[in-house]
Amino acid sequence: MDLTTTYLGLKLKNPIVPSAGPVSSEISNIKALEDAGASAVVLYSLFEEQIEMESLEHAYFTTAHNDSYAEATSYFPTDIDYKLGPEEYLEHIRKAKEAVDIPVIASLNGKSTGGWIKYAKYMQEAGADALELNIYLLATDFNRTGQEIEKTYIDVVREVKKSVKIPVAVKLSPFFSSVAWMAHELDKAGADGLVLFNRFYQPDIDLENLEVVPNVLLSTPMAMRLPLRWVGILYGRLQAWNSGV
Ligand SMILES: Cc1cc2nc3c(=O)[nH]c(=O)nc-3n(C[C@H](O)[C@H](O)[C@H](O)COP(=O)(O)O)c2cc1C
Repeated sequence: MDLTTTYLGLKLKNPIVPSAGPVSSEISNIKALEDAGASAVVLYSLFEEQIEMESLEHAYFTTAHNDSYAEATSYFPTDIDYKLGPEEYLEHIRKAKEAVDIPVIASLNGKSTGGWIKYAKYMQEAGADALELNIYLLATDFNRTGQEIEKTYIDVVREVKKSVKIPVAVKLSPFFSSVAWMAHELDKAGADGLVLFNRFYQPDIDLENLEVVPNVLLSTPMAMRLPLRWVGILYGRLQAWNSGV
């Protein structure tokens, strides 16, 4: 059976692309994914906070659960050893490119326009075949309207698109009043593909010790229904569709 497809303008031998996560933090795992048949790989994200707080120690990210860095720490349960730091991340892209023949898609997290966006270009220079923009914006500010939040997404995509030549996919959350409008606006802003959906990390509460605990629950098959619906609704209706949703 011919399973070849196109994603972000990249020709893929099949549509199986492992999503961003800790598994890609080891080059040997990326190689194993390729050997198992993956047609491309998305690396774990480099977070805006990591870039801006370059000097913060590894220990901070892996142990602190302070609200002000909730977005950065949220994907860092203590037992997962991410290779932190922007320079290490760029080096990781270079090494991954040397190790495998499948496209390597780097993932850049951000939630505002700012200096960190230059890392999109650095990721391109390090050899990334494409970029996945993981806009992870947990809107908790009483004073920011939905429209302002949506505008931030669009501005970030425009800025990143201006700075690179490689294709840019945008990873979305499903929490918009109108997912269709948002998808269309991101499409107009130049997104080459949309990734449906990110899943915000939701910490638990340990009732014995009355502490917030960062444990990860993996998806069940039911989780598939939400993206399935939106892929169906958006099918064929976006420019980005030609390169991938
Ligand atoms: C432990 C863990 C770490 C993750 N790390 C990232 C990440 O670094 N960047 C990102 O964009 N998504 C990350 N994700 C989200 C996944 O790539 C995926 O989008 C999400 O889990 C939804 O897919 P699923 O329902 O198949 O799990 C992570 C998910 C998990 C469970």
